[in-house]
Amino acid sequence: MRHFLKETDLTVAETAQVFAAAAALKASRGKSDALALARQSWGLMFFKKSTRTRVSFQVGVHELGGMPVMLNADDLQISRGETVADTARVLSRYLHGMVIRCHEHSLLEEFARCGTMPIVNALSDFLHPCQFMTDMFTLAERFSPGRPEQFAASLKGKKVAFLGDTACNMANSFVLGGAALGVEIALAGPAGYAPGAEIRAQLKKDGLPETFTFSTDPAVAVKGADMVYTDVWVSMGMEAEKAERLRTMQPYQVNAKLMGLAKPGAYFMHCLPAHPGEEVSAEVLEGKQSIIFDQAENRLHVQKAILAHLAAARG
Ligand code: CP
Ligand code: NVA
Repeated sequence: MRHFLKETDLTVAETAQVFAAAAALKASRGKSDALALARQSWGLMFFKKSTRTRVSFQVGVHELGGMPVMLNADDLQISRGETVADTARVLSRYLHGMVIRCHEHSLLEEFARCGTMPIVNALSDFLHPCQFMTDMFTLAERFSPGRPEQFAASLKGKKVAFLGDTACNMANSFVLGGAALGVEIALAGPAGYAPGAEIRAQLKKDGLPETFTFSTDPAVAVKGADMVYTDVWVSMGMEAEKAERLRTMQPYQVNAKLMGLAKPGAYFMHCLPAHPGEEVSAEVLEGKQSIIFDQAENRLHVQKAILAHLAAARG
């Protein structure tokens, strides 16, 4: 059974296929009869808040001919102590696959191990692979316009600067996915927020080199970057640390001065939701280098391609 819990659950060749399929789905949206999930029901289970992921997966499953079954984890017996193993085994008897947003990454792994259906990571505390795939697709659209078969290759050797909370799930996804795709990942954040042991262990497990760099100087990371990325300073679940994070991450705000150190015409990206005035200035967020709404739209197309890929792999 194939799952998509982390970036490296797809080979580079499969990532290239998913990008090409996503471009085709984007071009044919509303016109195509290709229904990869026809007569299927997919569960979408959320333990955390979501706007983009929730709606784009719901619409995506529907557009592929399937029925999305929206599950708020709070309404399920799992929130009253039913085991993950039993939940996975029971839901596998009804559903053809599940998309899950949760806290501990291990819950996704247990679901995948105990159930008999594909599981997709819709964000865990550790990784956000659907967002990373979409971000790379969105960037490749700019580097290789109209040539989706070149998308994956066009990312090789490009420099991405990631600023702020460089120990969060998005940063981890860039570290792992960047190493797999040959993208140079330069991170900058406060000393206590460097990529941790868990993501380094994952690189090792996947046989990937530690190609990322970490600096406490934002100028070092941004210098010559093709794209500058940031994420919220207070991820879901980190609210108790809010005051400390807002204070220590201040020097890493992506603003016009910092963008000026990147390559001329460099793109600004953010997974959203954004907090203008915190991790990014309103000027950069709304400026002409910002491609945040292309990113948000592309979640739909890329996730549809991932779902179709998993469904086809299942046969
Ligand atoms: N970027 C992202 O995953 O957004 P949501 O939390 O709104 O789903
Ligand atoms: N790092 C953020 C990403 C939100 C899409 C969080 O986990 O809250």
